[in-house]
This record gives sequence, C-alpha cells and structure tokens, in this order.
Amino acid sequence: YVIGVDLGTSAVKVLLVNQNGEVCQDVSKSYPLIQEKSGYSEQNPEEWVEKTVQALAEITKDFEGNVEDIEGISFSGQMHGLVLLDKENRVLRNAILWNDTRTTKQCRKIEEQVGKDTLLKITKNPALEGFTLPKLLWVKENEPEIYEKAAVFLLPKDYLRYRLTGLIHSEYSDAAGTLLLNVEEKKWSKEMCELVDIRFNLCPPLIASHEQTGTITNQIATETGLEESVKVFAGGADNACGAIGSGILSEGKTMCSIGTSGVVLSYEQRGDQDFQGKVHYFNHGEEAGFYTMGVTLAAGYSLSWFKDTFATDVDFDILLQDVNEVPIGANGLLYTPYLAGERSPHADSTIRASFIGIDASHERKDFVRAVLEGITFSLNESIEIFKENGKKIESIVSIGGGAKNEHWLQMQADIFNVKIVKLASEQGPGMGAAMLAAFGSGWFTSLQACAEKFVQVVETYYPKQENVAKYEKLFPIYQEVYVKTKELN
Ligand code: XUL
Repeated sequence: YVIGVDLGTSAVKVLLVNQNGEVCQDVSKSYPLIQEKSGYSEQNPEEWVEKTVQALAEITKDFEGNVEDIEGISFSGQMHGLVLLDKENRVLRNAILWNDTRTTKQCRKIEEQVGKDTLLKITKNPALEGFTLPKLLWVKENEPEIYEKAAVFLLPKDYLRYRLTGLIHSEYSDAAGTLLLNVEEKKWSKEMCELVDIRFNLCPPLIASHEQTGTITNQIATETGLEESVKVFAGGADNACGAIGSGILSEGKTMCSIGTSGVVLSYEQRGDQDFQGKVHYFNHGEEAGFYTMGVTLAAGYSLSWFKDTFATDVDFDILLQDVNEVPIGANGLLYTPYLAGERSPHADSTIRASFIGIDASHERKDFVRAVLEGITFSLNESIEIFKENGKKIESIVSIGGGAKNEHWLQMQADIFNVKIVKLASEQGPGMGAAMLAAFGSGWFTSLQACAEKFVQVVETYYPKQENVAKYEKLFPIYQEVYVKTKELN
C-alpha cells in the first residue's frame, strides 16, 4: 500500500491506495482560512500537521491489513503559499496562501526591478499576486523583523513533509510557482534573488517529486501508528499531482479540472517554449516534463455563488437537471465568471463578473446555463492560447465538478471542439501523490506505467458539429465582454 496526502486549501485529504490503484480508505479533515483583512488569506501551518496526523492515525486504526505493508507516503499541496522558518526551523508567522491578493505593489516592483522579459526568460511566468516571491517581498517590506529572522522558506506541503521527517526540501513542481526558480534549468535563480534583493540562502534544497527524502520520525510513527520505516517521497504541486492522477504524462495530453477554480493543463515535453506568460508554465511532477496551465479563478465558485445567492432551496443536481432544456446561448444571456478577478488570459485582479442581455422572459435555468457556458468559455480562452502556440490537443480528460454532469461534459466537448474523456474513478491530486509514492517505491518502472494501471477511461463525449458551430459564433461575443467591461470597475 501507499498513502497520498493532498494538503488542500480547505482540507487535507488522505488516501490509502493498493497495488491495483484502488482507494481502500480515505479520510478528510478540514481547517479554516484566516482572513483578517480584505484580500488576506492565511493559515496556521500547525493545523496542517495536526489534521494530517489525525487523518493518518484514523487510516491506520481502521486498516484491516498489516500496517507494515504500507510502504510509502507522498504529498500533493496547495501551491505558492509562503511558510517562513527561523534557524531553529520554527514557523515565524502564519502561512500566506495562494489566494491572498495583498501583493499587487510587490508584483509591479518585481516587473520594474527584473524587467518583464528577463522575468519571463528565467521564471516562464509573469508576476502574479498569488505567487510566492511577491509574498516574501511583502514580508520583507512590512514585517522586516520577521524577514531578518527567516532562515528558509517552504511551500505548504514541503513544511508538512518536514514535520513528518525532520528534513527540509522542496521539489521542482512547487518551486516553479515561486518566481524564484529557473524553470528550464531546474535550479533556484541567483539572478532573480539578486535583482529583487532576496537572500539566496532562503531557498531550500531541491529534489524531484518521486525521490525519497527520508522516513518518518519516531514521534510521528507513535502518533500515527505508521511504521518508522515508511518511505517519504517529495510529492508535487496540486496541479502537477492532479495531472499525474489523470494520466497527463505525455505531449498532447490535456486535462480540464473544474473545482472552486478551474484549470486547463497540458503536458509539455520542452522547457524552452515561449507562451509570453499568457498561461502558467511550470515543472511537472514527472521529472523530465513541464506543463502549461490556464486558470479561471471562479469556475465552480461561480456556480456555488449562484446557488448560494439565488437557489438555496435546491441542491446542485436539481439546479443542473433542466439546463439542457435551455438552448445553446441561454436565450441571449451571457455570463463572464470574474467574481474574484481573473488569471488567464487576463491577469486582472480588479475585473468583475457580469450577466449581459437579461430579458424579462429569462428563468433561473437560463441563468444556470449562462453560468456553465461562461465558465467553459473562460477555460476555452486558455485552450485557444495553447492552440495558437501550436499545441496539438487530441482529447481532454475532464475531472472535478465539471465531470459530474453529462450536459456539462457535452458542453465542454462542443465549446473546446475536442473529444472529452471521463475517468472511471477520479481521485485528483491525492491519487497523483499516491502514484509518486508507488513509483518511488519501485512498484513501476515509470509514472506512465503506473498510470496505465491506475487511470482508466470510462466514457467519451464527442463534439457535435452543429453545436460547435453555434458556440463558435458566441465565443467572440463572450471575449468582447471583457474588453468592454474592464473600464467599468
Ligand atoms: C495554481 C493555484 C491554485 C492552487 C490551489 O497556480 O494557485 O490552483 O494551487 O491549490
């Protein structure tokens, strides 16, 4: 058996997986967000450790097999969060998370000091509020006494792993989201550190996602019931692990994952392509690879916001059941999903969402259809960037909330104009983490071989050409709404 730990933003989810890739047990434990001011989003790293230990203890307690057969454990983690440690490895302040937006000023400063071209050349990405470096600069400017005491920074799941093993490491897929990694060369960038005046020795040692970092400590073994010999593997960023768990491991493979936010993610063999920063470009958890990714910040969140605000009387299944009674184009109603600003293709934290074309005849189901179409159009803008840059997309694996409704799956096939596949059992990033532990433990000769056994397709949705033609007329109108509404804020 292996264990995959997915350290998410709202909860940690722990999966126990057997050699056939079946999930034998799963335990989830939630923790709160700390939002002291508008735009702030923090967490106490101690909560991650406490809740993970509790979840692991529950897994071993209820386990019907032999605990000695649990060979390895690995991690998937919410990206970009900043954890600062002093020279005794004590946490200096709450972690500042990926969805914290206090750092606009620091982003502009990075662009000024580094220059947009150099920034893109080294890090492959633009300066966005969510990334780690702007958070580090914010602490340096606003809490200089904490910055002075800092000896190392870690990403969230790297801190959790440190607490389980006593060893400090980061790995490429998460390091790529800091803006301090030379993504193509896979090493911390001295040049970036010098240009923004950050101490280079704050960067932790780097290893690959499937590499073993150590074994668990005595104390953690006692607290969790796991054997001390359990091997601990580095793990990866949640999006990289989501890609592994969906079999996105070779050129042409692409996934669409709709959770609170939505991503389209495509495997890249090469690290030297130029997407001009329009989509994120990070190191994969598969050692040789990279991936490009577009992010819609309020994807599933648009739908849950709509339900919480206008449809509290029904659950999601009921809300979505009559969406297919409404024709394509939602009877003239159009939605843009910018409830919390946007990332791709418009890195714009101030834009806000809109419904355009409301008519007195519209019913709730028209609005629901418009919301689904708006989310899917937004993800299609990222897919268009992939295509413009010559990417060939054979099919898209759809996971998350967007894969739970057959009408939405067909809508994805029609709007993306590509075959959509649904997986038999979909466990997302936690499964990717478990696969890293399985490969690291020597169960397979490659992650690809592991995916061939663990990741099974159950259904395929093909684009219907008459629908594709209708959406092709609507999509430019959708795109125009951003241009026409961005000045209104
Ligand atoms: C990716 C990103 C989010 C977090 C969520 O750039 O910010 O997907 O990783 O956990």
